[in-house]
Amino acid sequence: MSSNASHLPSSLILVGAGKMGGSMLEGWLKVGMKPEGVTVLDPRPSEEMTRFCRENGIALNPASPAAPDVLVLAIKPQMLDEAASALNGTLGPQTLIISILAGKTIGDLRSRLPASGAIVRAMPNLPASIGRGATGAAVNEKVSETQRLMADALLSSNGIVEWLPSEDLIDAVTAVSGSGPAYVFHLVECLADAGTAAGLPPELAQRLARATITGAGELLFQSDLPPATLRQNVTSPGGTTAAALDVLMREPNGLTALMREAVAAAKRRAEELAG
Ligand SMILES: NC(=O)c1ccc[n+]([C@@H]2O[C@H](COP(=O)([O-])OP(=O)(O)OC[C@H]3O[C@@H](n4cnc5c(N)ncnc54)[C@H](OP(=O)(O)O)[C@@H]3O)[C@@H](O)[C@H]2O)c1
Repeated sequence: MSSNASHLPSSLILVGAGKMGGSMLEGWLKVGMKPEGVTVLDPRPSEEMTRFCRENGIALNPASPAAPDVLVLAIKPQMLDEAASALNGTLGPQTLIISILAGKTIGDLRSRLPASGAIVRAMPNLPASIGRGATGAAVNEKVSETQRLMADALLSSNGIVEWLPSEDLIDAVTAVSGSGPAYVFHLVECLADAGTAAGLPPELAQRLARATITGAGELLFQSDLPPATLRQNVTSPGGTTAAALDVLMREPNGLTALMREAVAAAKRRAEELAG
């Protein structure tokens, strides 16, 4: 049981038990959330989720669930309007809403859910599904310190949580860690492509690229050293790695500039989608 398990809520409703909701639910149970305190609302739960709820004693779609300490919104953003009217009735004055809906601001949630008070807006990412996520989260002024600790206990069951000083930073978080896993997957594709161009059979290049990125990622995860130090440690002056890094770190058109442009484009798009 994790050290902040004592902050877990005693009652929680999960709205939307799809990919993200299902992963979060598994994480909560792993860190000690009591299954009898959890209710899942999803009009068309998968067979797997139905079985999971039955086996763990989790209430699935009860007729009128009591207002919980925490209500987690994990539906698709475009389903919010449809879900909102039914949800208003399940909110009590003590209920903290945690929303992971991309592009839905705290203001959007307040206007769709007039019975709401305390709201945490969080942006997790895909590796949350294996407990290695990176989540950025922001609060509204109604969130008490006890509620923030509750949200931290829940969100950190799937990886690290960074509390943001302002909701305005969510779009930048989306552009870095929300969309970031796709950049890394693309890096594997690029490295494999370059390996093929350098003469390796394509499948061999793919296997090497994949193992290299996951191995380097794991090394970074297990090390306390900054990435620049890890890079310098494997770069002998005048060696092969240095020759490649001279290209990647070339100013002004190297990877630094390209990554800035990519993240800026993602942030702009996040702002547009949030309206
Ligand atoms: N996946 C990611 O990497 C990621 C990262 C950050 C944030 N998010 C956010 O996480 C949210 C969920 O994404 P996801 O990939 O987990 O989507 P998903 O797999 O489609 O899950 C959404 C679930 O909600 C159900 N649902 C639909 N209407 C509902 C309602 N009125 N009440 C209760 N449940 C309802 C859906 O059922 P049906 O399938 O039958 O419609 C589905 O089971 C999104 O808002 C997304 O922005 C996702």
